[in-house]
Amino acid sequence: MTNVAIVYHSGYGHTAKVAQAVQSGVDSVEGVSSYLISVNDVNDATWDTLAKADAIIFGSPTYMGGASADFKKFADASSKVWFNQGWKNKIAGGFTNSLSMSGDKLSTLQYFVTFAMQHGMVWVGSATPGAQKPGDVNELNRVGSWVGVMTQSDNAPADVTPPAKDLETAQLYGVRVAEFAKKLSG
Ligand SMILES: Cc1cc2nc3c(=O)[nH]c(=O)nc-3n(C[C@H](O)[C@H](O)[C@H](O)COP(=O)(O)O)c2cc1C
Repeated sequence: MTNVAIVYHSGYGHTAKVAQAVQSGVDSVEGVSSYLISVNDVNDATWDTLAKADAIIFGSPTYMGGASADFKKFADASSKVWFNQGWKNKIAGGFTNSLSMSGDKLSTLQYFVTFAMQHGMVWVGSATPGAQKPGDVNELNRVGSWVGVMTQSDNAPADVTPPAKDLETAQLYGVRVAEFAKKLSG
C-alpha cells in the first residue's frame, strides 16, 4: 500500500476544503491510502505517520504574502526530522488558497518547494492544462499555476467558495501526486 499525507493549515475553512479535494483525488487512485492532517492536530503519532508516507502534500492559505504562521510552526518543528533527513526522497507537493487572484500565492508555493528541498524531497508540479479564459470560474486551473495548485476564495463562507473547478483542479493534483508516489513505492 502506498501512503500519501496531506498536511495543511486553514484559519477559516477555505484551505481545508482544498485539502479535502486533494484527498479525494488521492483516494481515487487504487492502492493508495491518504492521511489528512491539520497542523493544529499534530502530535507524536503524526510524525510516525509522516515517516511512513511515500508522499507529503503541504497546504496553507496565503497570509501576508506567504505561508501562515501556523504552517510555519509545523515546518519549524520538522527540523527534528531534517537532522536525519527522514523525508529524503519522498514525493512532495503543495497547494495554497487566498482571496486575491494573485495575492502573492506564488511566494507560498515557492516556500513549499524550498521547504521540500531542505528535506531532500522530490517535488511534483501540477501539470494542469492552462485555462482558455484565465480567471473563468468554469475552467480548471483558472489562476494559472504549474508549480503546485492555487485556488481563490471570495470573502464568503467556505461552503460556497472556492468554486467547484478550483476544487477539481486540486482533486486532479491529488491524483497526480498519488500516481507518482505509487510508482516510487513500487
Ligand atoms: C492574516 C491574513 C493575511 C492574509 N493575507 C493575504 C494575502 O497576502 N493575499 C491574499 O490574496 N489573501 C490574503 N488573505 C486572505 C486569505 O488568504 C483568504 O481569506 C483565505 O481564503 C483564507 O483561507 P483559510 O480560510 O483556509 O484560512 C489574508 C487573510 C488573513 C486572515
